[in-house]
Amino acid sequence: MLKRDFHANITICGIQAKTIAEKYGTPTYIYSEKKIRQNYYALKEALNIMPFTSKIFYAIKACNNPYIARILVESGTGIDAASPNEIILAKLLGLSRNDILFTGNNLSDQDIKFAVDEDVIFNVDDETILPRIFRYGKPSILSFRINPGGDVSVTGQQTFGGSQAKFGISPSNAVHAYASAKNGGVNRFGIHMMPGSCALDVDYFRSNTKTLLNLANQIHNELDIKFDFIDLGGGLGIPYRDAQSPLDINAVGDAISSELRDIGGKLLTKNGRIYMEPARFFVGNAGVLLGKVHSIKPRPSGHIIGTDISMNVLARPAMYKEDGGFHRLMFDGSSDEAMVMAGICGQVCENTDFWDKNRRIPDSVEVNDLVVALDAGAYGYSMSYQYNGRLKPAEVLITESGEDILIRQRESIINMLDNIPLDSVLLDRLNKLKGE
Ligand SMILES: Cc1ncc(COP(=O)(O)O)c(C=O)c1O
Repeated sequence: MLKRDFHANITICGIQAKTIAEKYGTPTYIYSEKKIRQNYYALKEALNIMPFTSKIFYAIKACNNPYIARILVESGTGIDAASPNEIILAKLLGLSRNDILFTGNNLSDQDIKFAVDEDVIFNVDDETILPRIFRYGKPSILSFRINPGGDVSVTGQQTFGGSQAKFGISPSNAVHAYASAKNGGVNRFGIHMMPGSCALDVDYFRSNTKTLLNLANQIHNELDIKFDFIDLGGGLGIPYRDAQSPLDINAVGDAISSELRDIGGKLLTKNGRIYMEPARFFVGNAGVLLGKVHSIKPRPSGHIIGTDISMNVLARPAMYKEDGGFHRLMFDGSSDEAMVMAGICGQVCENTDFWDKNRRIPDSVEVNDLVVALDAGAYGYSMSYQYNGRLKPAEVLITESGEDILIRQRESIINMLDNIPLDSVLLDRLNKLKGE
């Protein structure tokens, strides 16, 4: 979606970065509808090889703008929701309960009641909440999130499974958990596992599928349960660095299929399906973040380039320190003939607000140049916040026909004060500041 010509004028889906910045300001997230659709169809096709029907749920937490999620829902996905509000978003997108999977954790009674009342597919993270679920009703269909335990590590990126993770139930508790659900009257089941995110390694998917199928087989043998779905989670990675290779998505389809071929029929009900719930793979490389250079501060160990894309706008670099938060950056208007090492940071008053302490960048970068962070479509806007009064950015969608449309306004101070019940003195002053 990004191009740079010899003179380093960046275009995003055919539109000059400069034009977008003039029209919408910075920082702004920009998404490509075309790329999101391409990503979806690539996965859909890769899963077509499977011996069983598959269904894909988009984990809306990665990018929760309804215009973005609608592209995927219109293409055929359901929604994986992490909270009641994300269930509401899924309903706003026109989905019915069978197309909404609820994978929350550490749920309040209110959360539980909401999910039971909506009767969405309840993916339970903690077997001890079963009595609380039954207090509100009996889900039509229920799954447990399995944490495979041990020492899970996902090449390059985040780990959600293993003995140190907060998610899921351990395999040794699984039979007991399903027995309790069955005794409580549940008669349709799924099983789920999602031990990591951003895996670029086909074997990760092969071995997770194997682990989950072994456990599903044990539950089937001991409790005579067949599954309406086996959910292999999300976790499909994208390369954030030049040195990384893209995940071979067709090989993932092959690996899962070969694990399923022999045993799937025994474990699945007649209309049973294989579920997946990716997010990053669909939207990660379909979004960029456009910002601006505001200062170049000399420093004996190399300049510090100050930009308006701070940790409150894209949290990943500050959040996933070890390796996980890397984004490539492109500077508009600068040729890369001579390169220097520099620190690159945002505007927030935290010393963790760095893109990189030492990044190789063009020597010609100047104040007011535009900067583009690549692969910012997933876990970008949806993790943004308002620290230091630096407000949430705008979001723009480039449609398949090449039109740019504003899909979320940049926040204003009025939005920031929105939920504060201002007393008459504060309100009066605010109105004066607004010129009313
Ligand atoms: C339960 C669950 N499903 C799916 C996803 C999507 O993960 P990914 O973006 O790695 O595909 C996540 C991400 O946190 C998750 O927690």
